[in-house]
Amino acid sequence: MDINSIEKKLNITPNGYVGSKKNKISWINSCFQNEGIDLKNSTVFDAFSGTGSFSIYSKLIGAKKIFSNDFLISSALYVKTFVENPGLKLSEEEIKYLIYNKNRKTDSFMQKYYTGEEKYFHEKESIFLDNFKVNIEDLDGNIKINMQDIFYLRKNRININDDQIFKIGYKQAAAFAAILSMISSWFGGGAGKFSSPSYKSRKIFTVSREKAKRKDRPFIGEELVLDYLKYSKSSLDKINRCIEPIETNALTFNTDTMSLLQTKAFVNNPIDLIYIDLPYGGEHTDYFKLYGLLESYVLSKPILQLNYLNEINYFNSKIEYEKSFIKLLELLKFNKISTWIFSFNDSSWTSVNRIINILKAFTNRVKVYNAEHSYKYRRGTNRNGTEYLFICK
Ligand SMILES: C[S@@+](CC[C@H](N)C(=O)[O-])C[C@H]1O[C@@H](n2cnc3c(N)ncnc32)[C@H](O)[C@@H]1O
Repeated sequence: MDINSIEKKLNITPNGYVGSKKNKISWINSCFQNEGIDLKNSTVFDAFSGTGSFSIYSKLIGAKKIFSNDFLISSALYVKTFVENPGLKLSEEEIKYLIYNKNRKTDSFMQKYYTGEEKYFHEKESIFLDNFKVNIEDLDGNIKINMQDIFYLRKNRININDDQIFKIGYKQAAAFAAILSMISSWFGGGAGKFSSPSYKSRKIFTVSREKAKRKDRPFIGEELVLDYLKYSKSSLDKINRCIEPIETNALTFNTDTMSLLQTKAFVNNPIDLIYIDLPYGGEHTDYFKLYGLLESYVLSKPILQLNYLNEINYFNSKIEYEKSFIKLLELLKFNKISTWIFSFNDSSWTSVNRIINILKAFTNRVKVYNAEHSYKYRRGTNRNGTEYLFICK
């Protein structure tokens, strides 16, 4: 696929995520052209993949092999859907089942933990979300989700090898991606995501937004319950449209990148190019804090029980950041990866010159590209800033 079509595809992919690189991919591609980097013959590793813009780009441009990893299961589910999935879509019948089937196995996890004025959801929304999740497990022809296994592996930080990778059926992952993207859209986009977590404050935001559009009635009755039937259907349709029927040699991991780079995972699959899009550092890029609710929903575990993720959340504190960054570079060297690509911007944890100096201690050549970008914030505000791409060989 050519870069214009890839850009269009990324624009319609419902993965608005804090720090998403979907609108920077064309620019990254032009930097690659300038450097003579051709992914077609490369094994690529998108090492902090988020919602996978770089992995999707790699798939569509025809990379030889793609590995992706993110420590958040909610992110890995997007990548499983948009990258690894060879084209398996949800049928109309399955979509109906997911939305309307009243499942006897349903638990009341969301109702128990996230319902009420001071929490995230109205009771009716929570009942829907709990029911939807067990309906996902019923989808046919897929590997059964074994959340307990995943939870166990992650909790015990067991080293991942080839048969311990993130296993979930493609259709199940697609259904999760749809419901997660629906939940995200209810809390608005950009850096404000989930930062005002109560149902009351979410209501204020969504009500004013929906009133401004007023195309139809998004709320059910006077209670201002979001129309989950309408939203989930449109989210499932959107996800279906974005699943490309392209067989790709791709594998998604859901673990800590630092530990993954210490396993034997890449011994038989040496990486040619690694793309590193780290959290930029600080409160606003603490992804566990930003997306903990989605993790909690998928795993049916209250956020407090997911706190082990904080132990591998190395890039959220400015103080620890540099030490972790250097450790990461040592691992890249240890794995003999020939091309390292880093994204940073002018709000990153330190100055560009400092980053260059650190990188120069590890690689022979560091080339820095920069571009002016406009970053969108919640409620339509924009900020201009500089985006940097570091290419190290
Ligand atoms: C800037 S975002 C990546 C955005 C992504 N490139 C995109 O376009 O959507 C950084 C990602 O690193 C992940 N992350 C943070 N610490 C991690 C760790 N120790 N191991 C794996 N992933 C981690 C976060 O969950 C987040 O999704």
